[in-house]
Amino acid sequence: MDTVTIQSLSAYEGQDVQLKGWVYNTRSIGKIWFMILRDGTGLLQGVVVKGEATDETFAMEQELNQEDAVIITGRVRKESRSVGGYELGIREIRVVSHVAEEYPISPKEHGTDFLMTNRHLWLRSKRQHAIMRVRHQTVKAIRDFFDGHGFTLIDSPIFTGNAVEGTTTLFAVDYFERSAYLTQSGQLYQEAGAAAFGKTYCFGPTFRAEKSKTRRHLTEFWMVEPEMAYCDLDENMDWAEKLVCFIVKRVLENSKTELEILERDLSLLERVVAPFPRITYDEAVKILADKGADFECGSDFGAVDETIISAQFNQPVMIHRWPERIKAFYMKRDEHNEELALGVDMIAPEGYGEIVGGGQREDDLDILMNRIRHHDLPMKPFKWYLDLRKYGSVPHSGFGLGLERTVAWLCGTKHIRETIPFPRTMSRLEP
Ligand code: 4AD
Ligand code: MG
Repeated sequence: MDTVTIQSLSAYEGQDVQLKGWVYNTRSIGKIWFMILRDGTGLLQGVVVKGEATDETFAMEQELNQEDAVIITGRVRKESRSVGGYELGIREIRVVSHVAEEYPISPKEHGTDFLMTNRHLWLRSKRQHAIMRVRHQTVKAIRDFFDGHGFTLIDSPIFTGNAVEGTTTLFAVDYFERSAYLTQSGQLYQEAGAAAFGKTYCFGPTFRAEKSKTRRHLTEFWMVEPEMAYCDLDENMDWAEKLVCFIVKRVLENSKTELEILERDLSLLERVVAPFPRITYDEAVKILADKGADFECGSDFGAVDETIISAQFNQPVMIHRWPERIKAFYMKRDEHNEELALGVDMIAPEGYGEIVGGGQREDDLDILMNRIRHHDLPMKPFKWYLDLRKYGSVPHSGFGLGLERTVAWLCGTKHIRETIPFPRTMSRLEP
């Protein structure tokens, strides 16, 4: 007898099979009873009928608890009313391990804090399951996109000697006799990569000591960071736009079931197609002024501002040319206006906020050294980075796309903490 998964059941109609999983729930209607099984690939209704099941199995209904580990055998039947379109006429249930106490997560309502404390168990629930699968598809789409466009994967290190995105969000760690930092971004190493390979990317965890408790901030999050040599800001925006369109299309193709479970309005994702609107920071400020927002020109946009701006468009919107004062040291200035940095942020629709940050990099050695001094950063840890401007410097650009914010948008989940298996925030280090 074949051991099969719920996902693959359609290929076994009319056959006797074995499935390995866990009890989701049971219910009885007199002479027959039902068991919903989960096996990690889906849910399946099993039907236990006297005479069809062994006597021992038929007598088990009262003993079985939610999350008992079981191996079941039976015949696959088409049943249009059942989840997934198939059911199993159960012959035998073998209990692998029995849950002696009540399972903490029952179908009744629980608070998010309770669920987060039980994250290791919460991951088994239908909704969390769907979100993790969309995350998986998103990661795969991202890798396929870059691999398919001639990028080389160059992993950036996680222990670093310097700041990338300002010094206020650095996590310092003891590193033998000195201090190191958990990386805020793999970008600087991708710049070395792009000079060596033309187009590279890294995709891994990054860390920010964010003291903010918003629904958009984690202290550990995943970011994909492409970097391209001989690439200016406009082409950089082209890449970001192409990537986001590719991800959305893939997820719509491959994660329909999950998006349905999440009750995502697909029409809002289906209309995401290039070209995305591109506006300058000044134009964005004008939108805020027109809408009567309480915003101080020259500062960074807050969550509320981003939502107002994005509400003007059906597509993700790219905002470029920012006041250099609020952007990182490495950004190249606009040749027409020294006060503007050639940075770009992409804001997702529906109030999901900034999903991409990037820009064109300063490629002149002297300007970059001045910038490092001006930002009060130590010169020594940047020696290698400055070498990139001494040996074969070219115009180059790149960006970082935050995985969790992107998944939150795709899934329509308000809080980013549900989009990563084990979220790290200011107040949460366990589980
Ligand atoms: O805009 P950021 O800070 O850009 C950089 O780190 C650049 N060095 C990237 C590059 O050019 N290679 O971060 C990029 C993206 C943001 O747009 C957001 O999606 C995500 O990373 N992000 C966070 N996601 C979750 N929690 C946080 N605390 C985040 N901070 C940034
Ligand atoms: Mg940013």
